[in-house]
Amino acid sequence: MWGGRFAAGPASIMRGINASIPFDKRLWKQDIAGSKAHVAMLAKQGIIEGEDAQAITEGLNRIAAEYEADGVPVDLDLEDIHMVTESRLAQLIGPSAGRLHTARSRNDQVATDFRLWVRDAIDEVQAGLIGLQRALLARADENADAVMPGFTHLQSAQPVTLGHHLMAYYEMVRRDRSRFADARARADECPLGAAALAGTGFPIDRHATAAALGFAKPTDNSLDSVSDRDFALDYLMAATQASLHLSRLAEEFIIWASQPFGFVKLPDAYSTGSSIMPQKRNPDAAELVRGHAGRIMGCMTALCVTMKGLPLAYSKDMQDDKPPVFEAHDLLALSIAAMTGMIETVTFRTDRMRGLAESGFATATDLADWLVREGGIPFREAHHITGRAVAAAEAAGVPLDQLPIATLKEIDARIDDRIYAVLTVDASVASRMSHGGTAPAQVRARIAQAQEELG
Ligand code: ARG
Repeated sequence: MWGGRFAAGPASIMRGINASIPFDKRLWKQDIAGSKAHVAMLAKQGIIEGEDAQAITEGLNRIAAEYEADGVPVDLDLEDIHMVTESRLAQLIGPSAGRLHTARSRNDQVATDFRLWVRDAIDEVQAGLIGLQRALLARADENADAVMPGFTHLQSAQPVTLGHHLMAYYEMVRRDRSRFADARARADECPLGAAALAGTGFPIDRHATAAALGFAKPTDNSLDSVSDRDFALDYLMAATQASLHLSRLAEEFIIWASQPFGFVKLPDAYSTGSSIMPQKRNPDAAELVRGHAGRIMGCMTALCVTMKGLPLAYSKDMQDDKPPVFEAHDLLALSIAAMTGMIETVTFRTDRMRGLAESGFATATDLADWLVREGGIPFREAHHITGRAVAAAEAAGVPLDQLPIATLKEIDARIDDRIYAVLTVDASVASRMSHGGTAPAQVRARIAQAQEELG
């Protein structure tokens, strides 16, 4: 393609390091779409003849059909998807194929293709995240009253409901979707027509190509257009955050599935057995989601480091932008699908959750709050009295609500019979009616609202 000036062909090592076709073939649909928009604009502006434009467009359609049927041929000599397609076009329609590259460079071409690809990737992720939200909502609704121990420091803290716990992940996914939506909005500018770096002397219409490719507008600085990979980084950062959330959820499932917890039975479809320990049911899918988060974060770091030292405008380092984005996307799509499947099919052992919530003095705060409310006692003092009640219950080996009233009165005479009504786990969660609290009524209200949000 630069044969005019170079006498010798590249060394085979150069061919190997230079070629991006093994991975950028994934951009073929976007590359064809970008070329079709460009050629239509060139003809409309009178930069090339209508006949040439028609031949080029028909050729591109045929190439698309070939790629669809047989895949993209990987020819390292042709370097990348742009050259593979252009050379096939020349085979099909002859010298007029050469007019396609008028007023454009691979620099603006690849920036455009990659943006289009990332935009599609975001749409795919969004659809997956909506599916995950629906799964979380359905299981939360089913378990809005199911009491479980709530933890801080992974120590039993206060009773909560399983529905509330699942809805916490709904909120995380809601923020993930908003981050991807932001990323998409910022990516919505078309670099095509920035050419190599300085723009072009041909009378192109960048607004027309931007509109044809579904972008809101053309980019406003040609140097920035060919060197900007913020859209890829925005994608990777949103993907990293989403994968962190998926990893935390996966971690909970791993803990919950372990025998000492026994909060869930993971479905066969997402577990594996052991070749030597027949009793085992390993949470492999959840562990891999947790593991994939590390790799996705690595992809984000890789592109940050690639970009951090680059002067304007295009440098070949930027060819390395695509593998981490492709890898992160594949890992994220799989992780979303796996967690959605697990949420949909996991068995929650709510009897076991309730039992543990009742055994861990989890309603101690409710006793302290009652002393504040009914006895007018300052919270710090109430906390102290409650500590003595917990110690007495611990010594007697009973839950708080089974301490005899005589024992409680010995600890503080202001305690009376009414205390038993607040010491049950159901009373405890029902009382947490503050906005965003764990009371089943609050959780159901949020679920109803979320159902509306999702439409
Ligand atoms: N394969 C290249 C990439 O992915 C395309 C752009 C090449 N531009 C250049 N000036 N060599 O970045």
